[in-house]
Amino acid sequence: MRKVWRKLAILALGQAAALLWAGAALAQEAAAEPEGPFPQTLLHPAGPQAEVLYEAMTWDIAFITFIGVLVSIATAFILIRFKDRGEDREIPQSHGDPRYELIAWLVLIVGLVVMALHPLKAEAVFERQPEEADAIDVNVVGHQWWWEFQYPQYGLVTANELHIPVGKKVRITTWSEDVIHAFEVPRLGGKNDSLPGRKTRFWIEADKPGVYQGQCFELCGASHARMLTRVVAQSQEDFDAWVKKQGSPAPTPSGGLAAQGKQVFDRICAACHTVDGTKRSPVTYAPNLAYMGDRTSIGGGILKNTPENLLAWVTDPQALKPGAKMTVSVKAGSLTEDDARAVVEYLEGLK
Ligand code: CUA
Repeated sequence: MRKVWRKLAILALGQAAALLWAGAALAQEAAAEPEGPFPQTLLHPAGPQAEVLYEAMTWDIAFITFIGVLVSIATAFILIRFKDRGEDREIPQSHGDPRYELIAWLVLIVGLVVMALHPLKAEAVFERQPEEADAIDVNVVGHQWWWEFQYPQYGLVTANELHIPVGKKVRITTWSEDVIHAFEVPRLGGKNDSLPGRKTRFWIEADKPGVYQGQCFELCGASHARMLTRVVAQSQEDFDAWVKKQGSPAPTPSGGLAAQGKQVFDRICAACHTVDGTKRSPVTYAPNLAYMGDRTSIGGGILKNTPENLLAWVTDPQALKPGAKMTVSVKAGSLTEDDARAVVEYLEGLK
């Protein structure tokens, strides 16, 4: 067993160095500007709730890193200080010293209390609902595999892209109409499960305009990874304009391919979908398509909204999103290629 102490001491010091390195890397990442168009990161909060969670997280990580480094260094110290010197020593047995035991308990209790402070504050974020009369209410409904957003105050329904005004609290009530999903837009606030048969509430708020991306955070079936969301935070003016537009009747194409597309839509697609922004679709598992042409993404946020992508979607949705409940497609034989092209022209023109 001789010389094992040396390896163990090196291991302990290596652990301390690794912890410090990881902590420094995280701090560096937090200090840098967020990268990419839609970073899904907790390190760059863009609203008050996300701020509280960020504080709790960084505080805990710093505290845990500190304790981890301390223990690693203490371990190395003890291994070296009391290494096997080859002497055949009798080590005196001790039954402990109540003073040291008391100190150890106190350190432990104080440490745990300190660690709990910030998370308790963060927990309160979920429990408290903003009472502000002018807060926006949104029902967030999880479906396999897309999000439905209902605005009871405005009588609006939309899907996948949540519009909110900047600097206003958004009271969210969430549930699911199939399996368990979880809604989270990391830069705006915490994660919340969307449960079948039970409503839970939380709130988000964005400090400045922008598009914030989120992702379903609960494994919910084959296309769980393809269940994205975008929060479009805009000025009050832009938001009001959006509300007004969503509530107005869908534009009717005057002629051409789009008019043909409207006929296809009314004959086939309208059995499940609606383009009326004031009501839910005839079947709840089909997203509302009001003002489709204004949306930036399709297919639950997985594809950019372009005519090519929308054509690919109606041609073969299963190829893009395995298990999708959209059964009408060119591939399935329920749409002709001409129908598909026409309906794409119609939907893209809804703006
Ligand atoms: Cu919905 Cu994962």
